[in-house]
Amino acid sequence: MELLSYVVRDAVPSYLKNVPIPRSFGGFFNLSFKEWIHLVTFSAAVGGAGYLAVKPYYDKYADPKKEVCFNHDIRKDVEKVYDIIDVEDLGEKTNFCRCWRSKKWPFCDGSHNAHNKACGDNVASLIIQKKQTSG
Ligand code: FES
Repeated sequence: MELLSYVVRDAVPSYLKNVPIPRSFGGFFNLSFKEWIHLVTFSAAVGGAGYLAVKPYYDKYADPKKEVCFNHDIRKDVEKVYDIIDVEDLGEKTNFCRCWRSKKWPFCDGSHNAHNKACGDNVASLIIQKKQTSG
């Protein structure tokens, strides 16, 4: 706590006091080379820190409809991934993957849960089941 207090109350204000920001626009012309280096370095550090702080949120919320690649590693050696499954081979209930993260493609292996948690998505499988007949 003492370190935080020192940084916030003493070190940062002391450093900021020495940043050569002119009081007027014309003051920029009176800065020495060393002051310019200091000012540029300070501006780059503040800009970089701001960029790093905002970038994750920008990436997440900027353009949700931006085209993204779904298939990261399933059969990347073929032009199109498709599967043919005979209806007769389906059991009573079959879960097909729709998130493109399953290791048992084209079937769901639950990998969508980790995907959803990682990126705030809500995808899940396509469930095909035989009609329940009564009687
Ligand atoms: S693993 Fe992809 S939907 Fe379940």
